[in-house]
Amino acid sequence: MRMRSSKNKKAWSCFAVAALLSLPVVAGAESEPEDIIKYRQNVMKANGANMGAIAAILQGKVPEYKDRLGDHARGVQAGTKNIPALFPDGSDFGDTEALESVWKDRAGFKKRSDDTSKKADALAKAVAGGDAKAIQARFRELSDSCKACHKDFRKEQQ
Ligand code: HEC
Repeated sequence: MRMRSSKNKKAWSCFAVAALLSLPVVAGAESEPEDIIKYRQNVMKANGANMGAIAAILQGKVPEYKDRLGDHARGVQAGTKNIPALFPDGSDFGDTEALESVWKDRAGFKKRSDDTSKKADALAKAVAGGDAKAIQARFRELSDSCKACHKDFRKEQQ
């Protein structure tokens, strides 16, 4: 090592920087299934938390936070974007509530995901429009869409 020319040293450090920069990508490709499962469950928990927050606002329980409706709707938009990507091959075992059907019926799973994603967009749009009745209706449709996917693709909750 001590014999290396400075030119080589430079090339070596460039390589090290390149390796470091590519690290997150490499780590993504080699994620442990249990980390992917934990990650997607956290994304889903965030969906549940945002939906709960929206429900409390719509029920008039926390009028002082009604200005945050849009934030929560955008949170659900983000959390329902391309859900199938959270269920790659090999993440179907371990501590997961996902049913085998997620991997057996990829087309059906994607259809449910796209539907929910569209309904989250519609809710965000309704919130921006400000019509209370429309917001209630879009919220109900979104909530039904979440449930429709869970019914077919998630283990029944006790
Ligand atoms: C395309 C299907 C699909 C859609 C749409 C969907 N989910 Fe899920 N959800 C799942 C699956 C599958 C699981 C189980 C994941 C696991 O355990 O690996 C899950 C898990 C959950 C969990 C439990 C997370 C935990 O581990 O504690 C919550 C809460 C949840 N979803 C809320 C929602 C809400 C709210 C929506 C709608 C805004 C939604 N989901 C939309 C498929 C879906």
